[in-house]
Amino acid sequence: PLVTSKELFTKAYANKYAVGAFNVNNMEIIQGIVSAAKTENAPLILQVSAGARKYASPIYLRKLVEAAVEDSNLPIVLHLDHGESFDICKQCIDDGFTSVMIDASHHSFEENISITKKVVEYAHSKGVVVEAELGRLAGVEDDVQVSEKDAIYTNPEQAAEFVQKTGVDSLAIAIGTSHGAYKFKGEPNLDFERLQEIAKLLPNFPLVLHGASTVLPEFLELCNQYGGDIPGAQGVPEEMIRKATQFGVCKVNIDTDLRLAMTAAVRKELFADPKNFDPRKYLAPARTAIEEMVRHKIVNVLGSDNRI
Ligand code: G3H
Ligand code: 13P
Ligand code: ZN
Repeated sequence: PLVTSKELFTKAYANKYAVGAFNVNNMEIIQGIVSAAKTENAPLILQVSAGARKYASPIYLRKLVEAAVEDSNLPIVLHLDHGESFDICKQCIDDGFTSVMIDASHHSFEENISITKKVVEYAHSKGVVVEAELGRLAGVEDDVQVSEKDAIYTNPEQAAEFVQKTGVDSLAIAIGTSHGAYKFKGEPNLDFERLQEIAKLLPNFPLVLHGASTVLPEFLELCNQYGGDIPGAQGVPEEMIRKATQFGVCKVNIDTDLRLAMTAAVRKELFADPKNFDPRKYLAPARTAIEEMVRHKIVNVLGSDNRI
């Protein structure tokens, strides 16, 4: 069934694992992710960004996810990723999403609280859960001033106050991850001390890690080998994601790794068979690449296998 993340997070928190939240943009991506979760008996969050809505149109994504639920019989959360306003959150809630993110993190602390609170009130009246964000998702160089880091990363005391004042169900935090394939210029580095401080001030409360793709080298190499040009890409090492799940992180957001897996497979397939012009012959391997990658995440990184 389509579920909220409430019980999924309670269980994940208690058992120190995370539920994978994967961005979806088309049928093959959804099918690859869902068949991985089915094989591994894992709970699942499928999330839809503004970019995804623009690309596929909201109704197609919603109906595809409904098909996935019916076909797999898995507990799946349909989540709005980075909702930028009350209106887009309301639209998704009215359309049947079971979870929404209001991302007002670029506003002032007070504004963020007031916008988030408004979304929480509407969502909760409809049985929908809400994720918010505090702090800015950006990499910070190692040699940067502590004060600068404090301005960008999530402040633990503010996080506690934010949750208390908004009644939000989960919180995305900034500890050094960022979106996309270029997360670190030098050595990967996350502020685990800060994460532990936040977790201490927010006991039994689910935290969310955005920008959590690993940028798997095998896919980078395949892309670059078959005509791509993606130099210097670097993601969050898998052991750092595993560590984060030990300190209250219950939701791990992954998009870039899906994009890379799919692109690597398409490039490889088109290169291998230049005469092929049947999209099914390169989209099927792309779907399989996603499925295998997601199984690996579920079993070896998130620990969400056999949790249903
Ligand atoms: O939050 C970022 C996700 O990777 C979604 O990206 O807006 O290009 O779909 P997108
Ligand atoms: P990645 O770019 O690391 O996959 O992060 C995705 C994300 O946070 C979506 O909200
Ligand atoms: Zn994000």
